[in-house]
Amino acid sequence: MKRPTIAGVHLVASTRSGSGLVPGVAALAEEHPTVEIVCAPRPGASDAIIGVDAWSSAADFAAFEASVASSTSDALTICGAPSELTRTAGEVLTRFQRYVDRRNEASESPVFDAVLAAHAALHDVDKPLVKADLDHAIDTWQWMLRLEVHASLAAQLAALFHDIERLESEPDRRIEQHAPDYAAFKETHARRGAERAEEVLRGAGIDPSTASRVRELVASHERRSRDAEVDLLNDADALSFFSLNSPGYADYFGPEQTRKKVAYTLRRLGARARARLDGVRLRADVREHLLFVEAA
Ligand SMILES: [Fe+2]
Repeated sequence: MKRPTIAGVHLVASTRSGSGLVPGVAALAEEHPTVEIVCAPRPGASDAIIGVDAWSSAADFAAFEASVASSTSDALTICGAPSELTRTAGEVLTRFQRYVDRRNEASESPVFDAVLAAHAALHDVDKPLVKADLDHAIDTWQWMLRLEVHASLAAQLAALFHDIERLESEPDRRIEQHAPDYAAFKETHARRGAERAEEVLRGAGIDPSTASRVRELVASHERRSRDAEVDLLNDADALSFFSLNSPGYADYFGPEQTRKKVAYTLRRLGARARARLDGVRLRADVREHLLFVEAA
């Protein structure tokens, strides 16, 4: 099935604001430079339509996921109170950033296209956990580009491949909740994934020194270090857990394990990346875990 793309967002105000302008549009456009933000409806378009009130009050993201995934349009329409439009659009674009084509000078190349195709081909998306892994890999890559506009080729490839080991160890069921030592389990996951990433990248035409650097980054991606690119990968991966994976994680593992995971993931976030969580719509139970862990 073809992946959706999001190239535009239409903001439709339910009432006129005092000035007639939707506040915050310039900042939203700056944050999402590859998305055309238009303050007008698009009559006749088959856009997925997301209402501000529905988005902020929904118990889950399932209905929005289904509507965006099945849309044949390359734009979204967000409608509601003018004061809430850009905040909602920002949260929606974050939730669905895996469908936005954001790259930089290091990833705008035919060899990167080849890597993306090879990476996608490793994933059997008929398996829900594997599909979730593919979505998370792309989402982590997109977070990385938002955090560091000039992220290197190796860093971006490490974002894409950082969890590749899960395709072997956890394609049908997750096992991390059974690990007697969670940190040691994650270190093994990182080391094994690093070897696999280097092998796949060499096969897809990435030069040996870049592939070797990716191996280094993936091998140490589970904790912060003195290496700025390892920290960048930690930030992107942790943000993706919160913005994309956390509701599915909570449904699969239950509240006790989710609270542990939230605490573990929070420790991987630097202060600058932590501030980005303010623009992320978290599900109510996940937000509660986050507040509990931060207060502890
Ligand atoms: Fe990850």
